[in-house]
Amino acid sequence: MNILVTGGAGFIGSHTVVELHNAGHTPIIIDNFDNSEKTALQGIKNIIGKDVKYYEEDCRNQAAVEEIMKSENIDGVIHFAAHKAVGESVQNPIKYYENNLISTLTLLKAMRSQGVKNLVFSSSCTVYGEPDTSPVTEETPRKPATSPYGNTKAMCEDFLRDAIASGEDMRLLSLRYFNPVGAHPSAEIGELPTGVPSNLVPFITQTAAGIREKLTVFGNDYPTADGTNIRDFIHVVDLAKAHVAAFELLATKNEAYYDVFNVGTGEGNTVLQLITAFEKVNNLKLNYELGPRRPGDVEQIYGDVSKAAKLMNWKTEKTLEDSMQDAWRWEKKVRGIEG
Ligand code: UD1
Repeated sequence: MNILVTGGAGFIGSHTVVELHNAGHTPIIIDNFDNSEKTALQGIKNIIGKDVKYYEEDCRNQAAVEEIMKSENIDGVIHFAAHKAVGESVQNPIKYYENNLISTLTLLKAMRSQGVKNLVFSSSCTVYGEPDTSPVTEETPRKPATSPYGNTKAMCEDFLRDAIASGEDMRLLSLRYFNPVGAHPSAEIGELPTGVPSNLVPFITQTAAGIREKLTVFGNDYPTADGTNIRDFIHVVDLAKAHVAAFELLATKNEAYYDVFNVGTGEGNTVLQLITAFEKVNNLKLNYELGPRRPGDVEQIYGDVSKAAKLMNWKTEKTLEDSMQDAWRWEKKVRGIEG
């Protein structure tokens, strides 16, 4: 299938492009390079041995998206392109609502006008808010998200659900990601945050590389085994493969269809457990201190992923140690660190 990948030069997008190619599909990228680098395209080429076609375009430009869908004979879309910084979304909610909501609506309109039926949407476990218990299943009620970013994910899910409820002839699916970490084992592609990283693993690898002086662990007084938050850290290659599985599921549907799937490992790890795994597998000591809680952080969340296992025939293959090894290999490559 010819699959349009919006945000295909980004962290999860670039890994998914590789896995789509590996599974025999033809990915075509749309990216405005707002928060991604063209170097990712070279990284993809180094892995798969050929150029992937890309368009430098904003997916809110409906006419341009329609033209690409037509000329590339697009069969389906994976929509990654979105702003994703939780803190920034609190500072500038209009930017988040404008970009994340309009891009999704525009894509749906373009799909309708071009007769493209299949879409996989990047959602997030943030739609569960602070859950009463973990693991959360897809039946766990959504709670108000703790940020405008989170609201955009919940609202986009609603767009898709309501379009199908109205009888729109499409097959749509939301994947609720837990915490994607790691990098491609080749170290050709990985996460490239601009400025000071707000996510845990890039902050760890930049600290180990000497770019940041020390990591602050946000809170050690939570009611968890070691007092730090629990998250479901999933290797980005496993997550990328879930998108291929999602497309294969959509291809079996002939009628209007919408569903949501958790995509995680099914296991929770604390922040300190992740740091310990990083130190152990890479044989180094990380400079970190225990600090106050970060406002807005959910105490603990991890996913029940049995629905994806059953209906998408997908499961994770990599361990937390794999993620920590690959994340560090990638950081070393980016910084030119030997060893
Ligand atoms: C958040 C969002 C998630 C989104 C992701 C993308 C929520 C509830 N979650 O995940 O939906 O997809 O961002 O950016 O909105 N930590 C430290 N020190 C640091 C950085 C992080 O201790 O310097 C801790 C945090 O307190 C947290 C864990 O590491 O417990 C993971 O944090 P982070 O990587 O920022 O992801 P989430 O906040 O879980």
